Amino acid sequence: MTGAESREETSGGATAAACPPAIITDGLTRRFGLVTAVDHLNLSVAPGSISGLVGPNGAGKSTTLKMLTTLLPPSEGSARVAGFDVARRPREVRRRIGYVPQLLSADGGLTGYENLMVFAMLYDVPRKERKDRIWQALRMMGLEEAGAALVKTYSGGMIRRLEIAQAVLHRPAILFMDEPTVGLDPVARRAVWEHVRELRARFGATILLTTHYMEEADDLCDVVAIMHQGKVVAAGSPASLKAQAGEGATLDDAFVHFTGNLMETGGAYRDAARTRRTARRLG
Ligand SMILES: Nc1ncnc2c1ncn2[C@@H]1O[C@H](COP(=O)(O)OP(=O)(O)OP(=O)(O)O)[C@@H](O)[C@H]1O
Ligand SMILES: [Mg+2]
Repeated sequence: MTGAESREETSGGATAAACPPAIITDGLTRRFGLVTAVDHLNLSVAPGSISGLVGPNGAGKSTTLKMLTTLLPPSEGSARVAGFDVARRPREVRRRIGYVPQLLSADGGLTGYENLMVFAMLYDVPRKERKDRIWQALRMMGLEEAGAALVKTYSGGMIRRLEIAQAVLHRPAILFMDEPTVGLDPVARRAVWEHVRELRARFGATILLTTHYMEEADDLCDVVAIMHQGKVVAAGSPASLKAQAGEGATLDDAFVHFTGNLMETGGAYRDAARTRRTARRLG
């Protein structure tokens, strides 16, 4: 599979084939000066699927998500999200999506409830519905008990779950999450996975996430696209990617097979640096 030449189909299940894709890109490209961060990307994400973008640091994952969420204009090519062109109809796209950014965005000086209220106003959730929606989102993310506490008293896992709650308050059809479980311990990570699965089950949301944890991609995603130097170098179900990497291969092996990279170069440092930044911000 080349990614650049052929469109990588991602399918969420048997019924998804007949529906138009939730996300489709055509030669999507972003340059920063001489760096081509995303290089003629052709992706197709089926509605109702949980899809994962994986790849080494600097592969272009976050840049792809920023273009799909209308935060960054493409240099070339196009993308449609929920049926609307990201460059021509950004407002229509924004109304239908939620975004959990790579860096933490919750305010430590506010309670969980207050953080969600900010987003309820930002997303134009009708005034009468705000309170109910906020408690519903807190409940769904397992934060009901913690809703009245200041976010600076939350664990990393609770903060990430709050940020997912923020991103789904307005019930978006499509949810983008950039490294939703970075820096979380294995138990907290699994709790996030369960909540993400519930989001799909309850609202039929389409989810596109990035991750450096191959176990996460394997467990959570219907389809995984492996990015390297701005291109998709392989895409398919975790099982098919593993099969292509050889008998008995793990998704880690498939990652190395397709990118020629060793996993997580500098990953521990990056996680630690982020955790420290977060602690400073929330402290
Ligand atoms: N605002 C920017 N200005 C200049 N270069 C940028 C900018 N944002 C990203 N880049 C460059 O684009 C390339 C892709 O970056 P991107 O953040 O999309 O990678 P990533 O796959 O998300 O990496 P990571 O796993 O480290 O989060 C990198 O070479 C990066 O340095
Ligand atoms: Mg990134």
